[in-house]
Amino acid sequence: PPLSQIYNLNDFEYVASKVMEKQAWAYYSSGCDDEITLRENHFAYQRIFFKPRVLRNVTNIDFSTEILGFKSSVPFYVTATALGKLGHPDGEKCLTRACFKENVIQMVPTLSSCSFQEIVDERNKEKDQTQFFQLYVNSDRKITQKIVENCEKNNIKALFITVDAPQLGRREKDMRSKYTLDASNIQNDVEEDEGIDRSQGAARAISSFIDTGLNWEDIKWFKKITKLPIILKGIQCVDDALLAIEYGVEGIVLSNHGGRQLEFARSSIEVLADLMPILKQKKLDKKIEIFIDGGVRRASDILKAIALGAKGVGIGRPFLYAMSAYGDDGVVKAMRILKDELTMNMRLLGVNTVGELNENYLDLLNLHNR
Ligand code: FNR
Repeated sequence: PPLSQIYNLNDFEYVASKVMEKQAWAYYSSGCDDEITLRENHFAYQRIFFKPRVLRNVTNIDFSTEILGFKSSVPFYVTATALGKLGHPDGEKCLTRACFKENVIQMVPTLSSCSFQEIVDERNKEKDQTQFFQLYVNSDRKITQKIVENCEKNNIKALFITVDAPQLGRREKDMRSKYTLDASNIQNDVEEDEGIDRSQGAARAISSFIDTGLNWEDIKWFKKITKLPIILKGIQCVDDALLAIEYGVEGIVLSNHGGRQLEFARSSIEVLADLMPILKQKKLDKKIEIFIDGGVRRASDILKAIALGAKGVGIGRPFLYAMSAYGDDGVVKAMRILKDELTMNMRLLGVNTVGELNENYLDLLNLHNR
């Protein structure tokens, strides 16, 4: 169907499922094991209802915000997803261009298909575009240090260290489809091509370098080697969120990696609902920013997360699907759909800015009743 007939983010998923190469679809869409957590990421949002307010003059709606101090037109960002070229020949550069057009922040993945330099060069064609970097930590710290230095040199604004993937989850759909397409650039960056086992799907083929030994002490090392804000991506419980604060990071992403890692990990919106009251009680010297991702498909999901205290929300698959089906235009359209939904939802909720949202707008009675 033409783009004009796409009405929401789920439509992109449907079209992508029809037009994508089987193997690429398997890699993007898969979750781990029986995909319970993948589905739960959506169900959890469906257990939260709104308590809207009325008669509040909602003529001027402003959903712009700051993420880690950087201006964003929206309270969401494009999160890191590997292997963009499985979906589109221009890969991550499609996302870079759409982010520029719509003033959205892009998180560049370690395992991008385009080289890091290509993506940065694409960004540098325009002015004033913010990019973050998602880091998989290599067992060889010298390689990791080089990547971090390269980020600093290239004006990357924050480092999101993925901490939920010491081993990649079993994504059986992906494993069945064997990885043959050469959509990754990791030969250049981190690993010799000969070392790659291609018999277990794309995810496993490209992730063998990730350090299983990564631990909290390493966070001190990162703080020593870089001035970039450090955000831990993949925190999944309150205790680790509190540890992250102790170790002095600038932020955390509550995430189960889009249901691709530990099966039966809880949804991040549920973890957020546990965490926020505890953070409120504590008098913290330093505020950290909380982000969440996983299963966000509607502005209502975004607003629920913001009302629970998230500063921003990461969105992964929908942009990949939009890109795979329609290229740049698809991604731009996906972002515009979310902006339209944000305007309407905020009007109907009775808030003019995202800063006005809080848990009083939510009915959380059933959130924990699975
Ligand atoms: C991911 N994700 C991810 N995360 C990360 O830290 N490094 C990575 O390389 C990838 N790669 C990746 C590939 C694909 C195809 C997907 C779908 C996801 C996880 C991603 O950043 C995010 O946590 C989830 O995608 C959020 O869930 P939704 O929005 O896809 O439901």
